[in-house]
Amino acid sequence: MISSEVLQMRDGTAVETPEQWQNQRRLELLQLLQSEVFGVTPFGRPANLGFDVREEKLDARDGKATRLRVGILFEGTDEGRQMELLVYLPNSVEGPIPLFVGLNFEANFVTTTETDLPLPRHYVSGRHAGVRDHRATEAMRGRGADMWPYDEILARGYGIATACYGEVEPDTTNQWWHGPRVFAPPTEPNGWGAIGVWAWALSRALDYLQTHPRIDSKRVAAFGFSRLGKTAMWAGAQDERFAAVISQNSGKAGVSLLKRPHGEPVSHLTGPLGHWFAPRFAHYANNEAELPVDGDGLAALVAPRPLLVLSASEDLWSDPEGEFLSVRNATRVYNLLGEEGIRADQWPAPGAFINSRAGYFLRVGPHDVTDEDWAITLDWADKFLKP
Ligand code: GCU
Repeated sequence: MISSEVLQMRDGTAVETPEQWQNQRRLELLQLLQSEVFGVTPFGRPANLGFDVREEKLDARDGKATRLRVGILFEGTDEGRQMELLVYLPNSVEGPIPLFVGLNFEANFVTTTETDLPLPRHYVSGRHAGVRDHRATEAMRGRGADMWPYDEILARGYGIATACYGEVEPDTTNQWWHGPRVFAPPTEPNGWGAIGVWAWALSRALDYLQTHPRIDSKRVAAFGFSRLGKTAMWAGAQDERFAAVISQNSGKAGVSLLKRPHGEPVSHLTGPLGHWFAPRFAHYANNEAELPVDGDGLAALVAPRPLLVLSASEDLWSDPEGEFLSVRNATRVYNLLGEEGIRADQWPAPGAFINSRAGYFLRVGPHDVTDEDWAITLDWADKFLKP
């Protein structure tokens, strides 16, 4: 088996100093995740990236929040490729506001029951649906709101921002040209997949958030659920401006360990979901043992920044124990960098919350994001994201 030890270079050299980590192993892991899994992110912020503030409503959510709708214009014009960022800032906070940013599955207006949020101008792609396959309808408003407890998040002093991943690039095969990949088409063997594009979009959201005077841009955490959790991890690994990362059931090719023979195999990821990844990742289908990098390497790339991993006891497809072991392995990097990492040796019992810098919570229940997950997240953020 090829070693994927987080503190061992591929040539076998042990990584013993923070400098070796920062200047060598960190870069090696990033490069391996690019070449073998997600593909190379070919460009960063476009020179002509534009921000179009379409709304600033000072008395949203019963006066408790300022709500912004901002077009993030990838080509600098309203006619070009873009996504719309929905931002809420708590009006009760005087100083700089820490904030969570993550993508959503259907459309911004699906995450809230507010009636004055306009329907998106674009077609929306459903969670498992094809390209821009249906128009947004009023009936969809708020149907995903239970995963987005905005009022609770705002009441605790945090801002939150989201955009729909399908606006960036539809989640389906052979439609990459709808999104930013048109400017760097995916190529064999290491061209970027859709997760790379969605992660890139999170960084473009951060580009905007950094310009807002009320937001504490040094305290912006990336988060996401399931495939969008993989996306948040990959965004946080590459872009060190994200102050923290929160993985909500990110599973395989997220925090979990691909090499453990539990849950989703690589062959499933590279089959029906192959458009998420670099073509090269298919080499590891039924061949996981050969992977030179794994979820613990992805987790380690977040170090020494805070990382919260939310698992679910019935989410066996994600291998929740693998998600824990990954954070435990990554803790060696936290320790090398002088931070605590996870404060647990054994996979904790369901319901137990390990509230450490690399945090872990195993919720009782299925693959989901619940109020309980957010309550845990806010307690953890009070310790590790707030000043
Ligand atoms: C599928 C896929 C997972 C993914 C999930 C999701 O179940 O196999 O890897 O995390 O979809 O994003 O909903």
